[in-house]
Amino acid sequence: MARLSAIIPAAGSGIRMGASVPKPFIKLGEYSILQHTLQALLKSEELCQLIVACQQEHISKVKQVFEAFDHSAVELLVVEGGKERQFSIYNALQFVSGDAELVAVHDAVRPFIQSEQIAKCCQLALKLGGAVLGVPAKDTIKQVGEGGAIVSTPDRSALWQAQTPQVFRKELLTEAYQKAINDNFVGTDDASLVERIGGKVGMVKGGRENLKITYPIDLEVAKLIMRQEDDVI
Ligand code: CTP
Ligand code: MG
Repeated sequence: MARLSAIIPAAGSGIRMGASVPKPFIKLGEYSILQHTLQALLKSEELCQLIVACQQEHISKVKQVFEAFDHSAVELLVVEGGKERQFSIYNALQFVSGDAELVAVHDAVRPFIQSEQIAKCCQLALKLGGAVLGVPAKDTIKQVGEGGAIVSTPDRSALWQAQTPQVFRKELLTEAYQKAINDNFVGTDDASLVERIGGKVGMVKGGRENLKITYPIDLEVAKLIMRQEDDVI
């Protein structure tokens, strides 16, 4: 089984949520969103290391979350994040274990990830170099130009929404991040950095419950999903 290191970017400010604390530290039922996400990741059999990147002032809070876990088989680390998500992940990459074969990046604010989905991404990443969980786009996507004028309507049947985890062979992801930093390129996900150096990345069909908690409405949906999970005996 592949040895997997997971990087969890958690250093954002949560501007769109507008809460008094960054999103990973908002409570969802009994635990914080971050704790739910880490708990879900720790179910993955591939996992050998977990690195959370957060703001300096939250490092002790993350360490407290770690204390709640029985984690003898998995190394847990917390490192300082950066100004952009990409810089947070770049910082964390410096701490990836020499033992790891694959690296997954998974947003701290996607608590509904399932270990079978992680396993599928790992299998495809071993084969191709990279793999991303996603779902087919449900809305028609418009490219909009200046003044709000629609420029084009890409064929929806070929469009997917990329989620996380995004899993890669360690050397490939490291090279892609180094190149992006050298070129001053900032992308909106990890796969785009790998794509631009010619790496192959496959899409794995995930589920819509793996939502990224971004706006207050997402938090309400997450509470509903959490309640439904409670109903399962
Ligand atoms: N993230 C990070 N470092 C940053 C920015 C974001 O580690 N400098 C993390 C967030 O904490 C989150 C994930 O990347 O877990 C996805 O980012 P996003 O949903 O955009 O979260 P925020 O940046 O916190 O939210 P917003 O963009 O609304 O401010
Ligand atoms: Mg953001």
